[in-house]
Amino acid sequence: MNSDIISSVIDWNQIWKETIRQHKMIINPIIENEKNNNKRFYRCYSYLNHRWDNYIGVEKEMQKIPLQPNFKVLDIGAGPGTHAIPFSKKVDQVTAIEPSQPMIDCLIKRIKENNVENIKHINKQWEDVNINQDLDAPYDLVLASFSLIIDDIKLAIEKMMRVSSDYIYLIWHIGVPAWEKLYVELWKSLFNIPYTPVPKANCLFNVLNQMNIHPNIEIHTMDNYYKFKTKHEAFTHFNKELVLSKKKHRELLRNYLNKNLIKENGNFILDGSSNYAAIWWKKNKRHVPGVIA
Ligand SMILES: C[S@@+](CC[C@H](N)C(=O)[O-])C[C@H]1O[C@@H](n2cnc3c(N)ncnc32)[C@H](O)[C@@H]1O
Repeated sequence: MNSDIISSVIDWNQIWKETIRQHKMIINPIIENEKNNNKRFYRCYSYLNHRWDNYIGVEKEMQKIPLQPNFKVLDIGAGPGTHAIPFSKKVDQVTAIEPSQPMIDCLIKRIKENNVENIKHINKQWEDVNINQDLDAPYDLVLASFSLIIDDIKLAIEKMMRVSSDYIYLIWHIGVPAWEKLYVELWKSLFNIPYTPVPKANCLFNVLNQMNIHPNIEIHTMDNYYKFKTKHEAFTHFNKELVLSKKKHRELLRNYLNKNLIKENGNFILDGSSNYAAIWWKKNKRHVPGVIA
C-alpha cells in the first residue's frame, strides 16, 4: 500500500487519542494522583537535576531558533523553566503555561534565583487556556517541549497556530527514554497491567501531515539520562517515583537496577539514550520545509 493510501485510511489523531487514553489510564492512578503531590514535588527537582546534567538540547535549540530581543514567546508545559529561563534573557517576554503546581513552584523559585522579571506564568493545561482571557497573543514563537500529554493533539496544534504569528516548535520523543524502558519492563509485574508508552513523534508527524503541515524535523539523541552516585540513590529515586510499598515490588525494582545500572567514572548510569525530534515550521510558510533562518 503506498503512503497516500495509508494516510487516507488511518486517522492519526485518533491513534494519538487512543494511545494517550491508554497511557493516562495506567499512569494517572499511580503517578499523577494529586495525593502524591509531595512525591511529585520531589520529581520536579530530580527532573531538573537530571535534565541539566545530561541534556544539552536547550543550547542547540537556542542556536536554531532565531530569538530576537523583541520576541514574545509562549512556552507550553514549561516545567521548571528549562527553556523559559534561558529564553527570557534573550527575548522581551515569555509566558509559561504549566498545569502542575509543584512544577510552577519550582519555576517560581528559579525565576527568583535568576532575577528574571519578564516571565508570566499560567497554572493551566494548554487545553484549558482561554486565548482571549489568559493570553496576550500573538506570540512570535510557540514552543512545547516534551509536554504533549494532550488528548486531542490536532485541536491543541490548531490552537497553537491561532496564537502564533510566526514559529511553532515542538519537541517530542521518538524512542523509549530510560524511565519508559524501566516502566515497560516492570509495570506489569508491579501493577498487573502492561505499560502503554506515550504516542511518539512518528504519530505526531502523521497528524501534522494530515493537517497539511509539512514541518522541518531534526533528530537528536538524549544521552545517559539518569546518573546516580550510588545504587541506593538510584533505588530511592525510582522507589519514590513509583510509590512502591510492598517488599516484593521493591525487590523487583532493585533487581532491575542491579541488572541495568552501568558503572562509569564513579557514577551509576541508567542508560537512557533515546532519540527525540525537534519539529518546527513557520505559520505562514508551512508547506516549504527548510532551515530556520
Ligand atoms: C517533561 S516536562 C517538560 C518541561 C520542559 N518543557 C522541558 O522541556 O524540560 C513536561 C511538562 O509538561 C506539562 N504538561 C503535561 N501535560 C500538559 C498539558 N496538557 N498542557 C500543558 N502542559 C502540560 C507537565 O506538567 C510538565 O511540567
